[in-house]
Amino acid sequence: MSDANALEAEIVASVAAAADEASLETIRVAELGKKGRISELLKGLGKMSPDERRTEGPRLNGLRDRVQEAISARRETLADAGIAERLAAERLDVSLPVRPSPAAKGRIHPISQVIDEITAIFADMGFAVAEGPDIETDHYNFTALNFPEGHPAREMHDTFFLRADAAGERKLLRTHTSPVQIHTMERQKPPIRIVIPGKTYRQDSDATHSPMFHQVEGLVVDKTANVANMKWVLEEFCKAFFEVPSLNMRFRPSFFPFTEPSLEVDIQCDRSGAEVRFGEGNDWMEILGCGMVHPNVLRGVGLDPDEYQGFAWGMGIDRIAMLKYGMPDLRAFFDADVRWIEHYGFRPLDVPTLFGGLSA
Ligand code: DAH
Repeated sequence: MSDANALEAEIVASVAAAADEASLETIRVAELGKKGRISELLKGLGKMSPDERRTEGPRLNGLRDRVQEAISARRETLADAGIAERLAAERLDVSLPVRPSPAAKGRIHPISQVIDEITAIFADMGFAVAEGPDIETDHYNFTALNFPEGHPAREMHDTFFLRADAAGERKLLRTHTSPVQIHTMERQKPPIRIVIPGKTYRQDSDATHSPMFHQVEGLVVDKTANVANMKWVLEEFCKAFFEVPSLNMRFRPSFFPFTEPSLEVDIQCDRSGAEVRFGEGNDWMEILGCGMVHPNVLRGVGLDPDEYQGFAWGMGIDRIAMLKYGMPDLRAFFDADVRWIEHYGFRPLDVPTLFGGLSA
């Protein structure tokens, strides 16, 4: 009797001391498992006399039930403690500053931003975007644009030539986006209204020139396009791009082989302060070249210059980006310096639109 009581006290104490579910299971197997101590005692009932069994039976069954209960209770306590511990460990400090998401941390390069701004402005005027290859033939880069063989205008382009191919043809890196005018006119019948942003290449490198740079070209061809239309389009563009309500422009005669007449455009600015301001002041800054598409160019793509006419323009994207956003050195554009892009870059979700603001 007292043996059984001592056994029960011992087991209950060890159950209470079990620190985790694994040690509790070890105790259960040792006491109540097939060969456990309590199971062995219960097996002994079979050998007892009916009288003994009458008193020992309920006693041993009671012992087994209480031990089982103690084990279940301990198991529950341990599980609750485990949950409480996890809850305490996994607690979030909601007062910590929010970590910026990748979308908030990344930056759009000013060139990409300015290309998006330009396309937003011209899309609003009904222009489509066209593209062409960076590697061009002499034909598309020069001849089809009315640069005669041996003309000095070719030399002015400081062209990068590729090694001659098997057929003896020397391809080149396009020196301007104008060849895409030809590709487009060969593929598409007028009316044509396109802008062509893209990479261009010339052997030139200093604070304001990079051997790889960007241009945006525009081309309109139909039966009535004229210089007045061109002036309006360019003026609307400049006001929208520089985000000023009015702007004076100056059109000067110039020369490009593929336009006649050819003009260069200056915009009014104020250079007296630390930064250039547009739409005010009495200084001028050259920003683009333009003109009426030369009859030879139209004829070359199978258009009759007596029926069709067009205007075109080209400008440096890097240059207008530097002017608009006050970036002094072009070379930094292509240095891939994270500090520079964090300072001059744009937030990815701030997509430029005319209604939402271009650079807001
Ligand atoms: N392609 C010229 C350049 O790179 C720029 C240019 C001038 C483009 C006049 C034009 C244009 O379309 O009409 O210097």
